[in-house]
Amino acid sequence: MATVHEMDHPLIKHKLSLMRDKTTGVKEFREAASEIAMLMCYEATRDLPLADVDVETPICTARCKQVSGKKLAVVPILRAGLGMVDGVLDLIPAARVGHLGMYRNEETHEPVPYYDKMPEDIANRTVLVVDPMLATGGSIISAVTYLRSRGVTGEIKLMVLVAAPEGIDAVLAADDNVHIYTCAIDEGLNSAAYIVPGLGDAGDRIFGTE
Ligand code: PRP
Ligand code: URA
Repeated sequence: MATVHEMDHPLIKHKLSLMRDKTTGVKEFREAASEIAMLMCYEATRDLPLADVDVETPICTARCKQVSGKKLAVVPILRAGLGMVDGVLDLIPAARVGHLGMYRNEETHEPVPYYDKMPEDIANRTVLVVDPMLATGGSIISAVTYLRSRGVTGEIKLMVLVAAPEGIDAVLAADDNVHIYTCAIDEGLNSAAYIVPGLGDAGDRIFGTE
């Protein structure tokens, strides 16, 4: 069953407020995106399976826990998703990274794919898609559809900073094994399909291309 998780950690809420502020500059915006991604990754990986292992401490043998099961892949949706990759890799340095390039057509708001490069064994990995904005949901649905076509049959975790209710509904209707992690669920979309109040154009603010 698909699920939605809204982050309630005070540090995440605080950093997101900094990102929403239109006077926040590129450096601070980029740093906050990466820091929030790390904190969210902690929550999004809460249910990773564990296995018992014996570890020799300097004193004796200890029965300990280690993460087991499928390896992880983080898949940023270019461009803006790149701003969340380092935060995830800070926590899971061995994760593989697949890239999916797409941009929204300004008139139709439909995603236009332009690039993809996945780890060869993507079908056998737990996939964490990262993109700061879930607006109409078109880009994330396109990413999920692509990953399914590449043989990813298990759950797909979607980490976004801000989501619109319309986008959440669309993603949940498109696939029943996705799990959305978001820092905020905003009011909705404006006539240009931007999230209100949102934080503006995430890609432009991360890369300074406004
Ligand atoms: C933004 C954002 C998402 C998409 C969300 O990307 O990073 O990928 O829009 O909108 P949707 O839910 O309506 O599809 P954009 O197309 O601006 O490209 P960019 O990251 O290269 O700036
Ligand atoms: N893409 C963005 O970067 N911001 C929005 O509000 C919607 C789509």
